[in-house]
Amino acid sequence: MGGKGYKILVVDDDLEMCGLLSDVLQGEGFSVITLSNSFEASKMLKGEELDILITDLKMKGLKGLDLLEEAKKDSPMTPVIIITAFGTIESAIKAMKMGAYDYITKPFQMDELVLTVKKALENRLLKKEVDRLRREVETRYHFHHLIGKSPSMQKIYHLIERISDTSSNVLITGESGTGKELVAKAIHFNGKRKEGSFIALNCAAIPETLLESELFGYKRGAFTDAKVDKRGLIFEAHEGTLFLDEMTEMPLTLQAKLLRVIEEKEIRPLGDTNSYPIDVRIIATSNRDIKSMIQQGQFREDLYYRLNVIDIELPPLRDRREDIPLLAQHFINKFSNDLKKSISGVSENALKLILNYSWPGNVRELENVIQRAMTLSQHDVILPEDLPPSMLQEKERGALEKAVQQRYTIDQLEKEYIKKILQEVGGNKSKAAEILGLDRKTLYRKLQEE
Ligand SMILES: Nc1ncnc2c1ncn2[C@@H]1O[C@H](COP(=O)(O)OP(=O)(O)OP(=O)(O)O)[C@@H](O)[C@H]1O
Ligand SMILES: [Mg+2]
Repeated sequence: MGGKGYKILVVDDDLEMCGLLSDVLQGEGFSVITLSNSFEASKMLKGEELDILITDLKMKGLKGLDLLEEAKKDSPMTPVIIITAFGTIESAIKAMKMGAYDYITKPFQMDELVLTVKKALENRLLKKEVDRLRREVETRYHFHHLIGKSPSMQKIYHLIERISDTSSNVLITGESGTGKELVAKAIHFNGKRKEGSFIALNCAAIPETLLESELFGYKRGAFTDAKVDKRGLIFEAHEGTLFLDEMTEMPLTLQAKLLRVIEEKEIRPLGDTNSYPIDVRIIATSNRDIKSMIQQGQFREDLYYRLNVIDIELPPLRDRREDIPLLAQHFINKFSNDLKKSISGVSENALKLILNYSWPGNVRELENVIQRAMTLSQHDVILPEDLPPSMLQEKERGALEKAVQQRYTIDQLEKEYIKKILQEVGGNKSKAAEILGLDRKTLYRKLQEE
């Protein structure tokens, strides 16, 4: 292992020894700092992470063992090598017990020292790697404000970590209430762009005519009502993140203009003859089937590829049921304060219902159901009676029993079944067709039959 760039602090009140060690270690490519004052060394240990600390045992001021103790506390990953001219076994054992990496007795061969230093470095790198791997396999129950321990959420946490510091545009898809906005914020606030602003715009909530001036801004006099210059949201998001919620609702003309901004990294406000350089990351969301919108000419394919550099698909809640108890408890804790109620959890029977429900409105629906239940509850846990009637009915009677009792025809039963499966998959017709063993056309035809 070469010493390139690794930082070693040598502490010895014997200046000659300092000089000697420094020469040898620098000769090996290490960057070496020597200090003969152990108090200064203690200060340095608090300030920065060193790759190795080499310290004499007997010194004026703080002793080698004192420094060792401080290093273990302030910088536990830094290996400490002890040098002593008084190599009694006791002091060596004590140092090792306190967590020193190794000790060397004076007089020593320089080769021996260099070898020990290199081994200590290798050891440190291994420890760091083990640490990193351990953290990676550790199940995380939350990330920023996102809750969830399911493998699919773990993957999303990882992905967010990997992309936060980049500037690539992101497209987040998923059913309503799956947490798209929370993910967008986690990306922004986890990376270097958090120094800039997170600017959100819901493309579906703003009339088409206003959308353009909101996004691009305008020069005074650009149109009748433009009394003063106005900076657009794209500008406000400079060096930060522009969050375009429900991106698919943006009209085609604006899609073209946005595409130009992305490609040219410049923005031109309405009525302005100048363009201004701009550095924004766009995070867009959609809960519609963009591919089919592209086919129908409602969404620009080129813009889609510009936005979809990284895609994150949020799974519906019913596909990660192991997160349901965790989320339910999270919302209970959250509302306990607001509602001034001391509810500790969900009863076993209520939990069964909650776990079996299909949650078409996903996490948002769960949040609402918990809030409602807590408002109604007169006990210290949420009971089935506190849940909405629709959730109780689902459990009440098996669908087939109902069909038998009410003497359904095959056609009726088929209709009921198709409806139920569609609900289960959140209205996704391709998925429903697959489950039902039908092709999409047949499914469409059956849905139109009355
Ligand atoms: N993993 C999660 N952990 C904790 N809270 C969540 C999680 N996912 C969603 N929520 C909560 O559920 C609600 C809906 O989330 P959010 O607004 O991010 O969903 P969305 O996907 O943007 O929905 P829509 O498509 O309807 O806009 C919010 O109150 C949010 O705090
Ligand atoms: Mg949203």
